[in-house]
Amino acid sequence: MSRSAHPAGPRHADVLPEGHYTAPPTDLNVLDEKVWARTVGRNADGVVTVGGIEVTRLAEEFGTPAYILDEADFRARCRAWADAFGKDADVFYAGKAFLSRAVVRWLKEEGLNLDVCSGGELTTALDAGMPADRIAFHGNNKSQEEIERAVEAGVGRIVVDSFQEIVRVAHTAQRLGTRQRVQIRVTVGVEAHTHEFIATAHEDQKFGIPLAGGQAAEAVRRALRLDGIDLIGIHSHIGSQIFDTSGFEVAAHRVVGLLAEIRDEHGVELPEIDLGGGLGIAYTSDDDPREPHDIAKALNEIVTRECEAARLRTPRISVEPGRAIVGPTAFTLYEVGTIKPLEGLRTYVSVDGGMSDNIRTALYDAEYSVALVSRTSTAGPMLARVVGKHCESGDIVVKDAFLPADLAPGDLIAVPATGAYCRSMASNYNHALRPPVVAVKDGEARVVVRRETEEDLLRLDVG
Ligand code: LLP
Repeated sequence: MSRSAHPAGPRHADVLPEGHYTAPPTDLNVLDEKVWARTVGRNADGVVTVGGIEVTRLAEEFGTPAYILDEADFRARCRAWADAFGKDADVFYAGKAFLSRAVVRWLKEEGLNLDVCSGGELTTALDAGMPADRIAFHGNNKSQEEIERAVEAGVGRIVVDSFQEIVRVAHTAQRLGTRQRVQIRVTVGVEAHTHEFIATAHEDQKFGIPLAGGQAAEAVRRALRLDGIDLIGIHSHIGSQIFDTSGFEVAAHRVVGLLAEIRDEHGVELPEIDLGGGLGIAYTSDDDPREPHDIAKALNEIVTRECEAARLRTPRISVEPGRAIVGPTAFTLYEVGTIKPLEGLRTYVSVDGGMSDNIRTALYDAEYSVALVSRTSTAGPMLARVVGKHCESGDIVVKDAFLPADLAPGDLIAVPATGAYCRSMASNYNHALRPPVVAVKDGEARVVVRRETEEDLLRLDVG
C-alpha cells in the first residue's frame, strides 16, 4: 500500500516529513475520475456537484458530515457486474459493505442477489422486499435463531462455515419440515495480497473449512449424508481490496479440484461454485482496479479450463462484490474546522467527523484522497493530514494529502470512495452521531439513512 515520499515539497516546508504521498497534483482543483463517483464534477462557479446538485446545497440541507451516494453510479455498477457475468452466473452484492432499504430496492430492480451475514442484514433485506430465494446467508458463527429465521424465510442458500453448522442447519430444516440449500465455505490456502485483517483464504484463521488435510472433503461427506440439506456447491472468499487476480485463479483451481474429488468419491457433480468478493477499488490515483468484465472473463476462463481438464460439467459461478459496487459511489462531505500548521511537519486540518464515520484509516492504514469541494483555489499545495474530532491522536481520516494552502475554516472538503465499510462500520465513539446517507440522482437528493440524534443515543441508555 505504501507510496514513496516525494522530493519536491509544498512551499511552506523546506524539508518534507516522512509520509505516504506522491507529488502534489499539478492542479488541485481537478478531480480524478478514478476515485470519484461518476456524476461528480465542478460547475462554472467551481463548486463540486453530484447528480446535478451542488455540495454546498447538500451541506445546507442535510448538514455535515454526510455520506453522499450517487444512485445512478450505484445502479450502473450493478448492471456492469450483472452484464459482465451474464445469465449463466449470479452476482450477490455483499451487504456488509453498505446496506439500507433503498440499496435493497436498487439491487432488486437491477437484478442482483444479496449476501447477508447477520440477522440484522437479513431483516433489512426482507423488509425492503428482496425475494428470499435471492438471498445468501453467511457468517462463521450464526446463532440458532439466525439459522431458524433464514431457513423459515426460505433463503436461497446458507453458506455453512463449520462442522457444527452443517449439523445445525440440517436439523433445523428437518424440524421445520423443509430442505435447505447449502454451500460449504472452504479455505483454499492462498495468501491474498492485502491487509492481514481482510485476507481470508489462508488456513490459520476463523473462516471456512480447510481443503488441507482432507477437512473440506470430510465436511462434504457429512453434508451429503444428512437429511434436511441439499449441498449445492463450494464457496471460497480469499479476501478484500485485492487487485491481483492470481489469487482468485488459484482458488478456482483448488475449488474445481475438490469438485472432481467429490465426483470421484460420491458420483455427484455439485452444480455451483462461489468465488466470493474482494475486488479492489481506487482510493487514490495510484490504484488501478480491474473492470467487472475483465474479472468475469478471467474467472470464466479458468473455471471452464479447469473443469474441462477434470472432465466436469462447468458449474454455475457466483461472485459477491461489495466494495467494488458501492465503494466508489459515495463520498463523505465534511466541514473544515480548526487548521494547525506545524512548522516543518504538516498542516492538521480538523473536520467535523473522523474515526467514527471512517475507521478504515486507523484500522487498516487505509489511504484516501481528499479535495476542497465548495470552491476552487489558485493557492499552492500544502501537505495536510485530515483528522477528526475524536479524543485520540490516531483519529486520522486522510493521512497525507495535498490541499490548497488557503484552506479556511468553513470550507467543505470531501473524501471520495467511502461508500463501502464506512457507514457500515461507523460507531458512536465519544457519543458521535452517525452521519446520514443522502442519495442523489437527476437533481434530487433524499435521505436514505437519517442522521442519528442525541435522542437516539438517550433512547438506548435506559439506566
Ligand atoms: N463475500 C464474503 C464471504 C465476504 O466475507 C466479503 C467481505 C465479501 C464477499 C465482500 O468483499 P468485498 O467485495 O467488499 O471486498 N471491513 C473491511 C473489509 C472486510 C470484508 C469482509 N468480507 C474493509 O473496510 O476493508
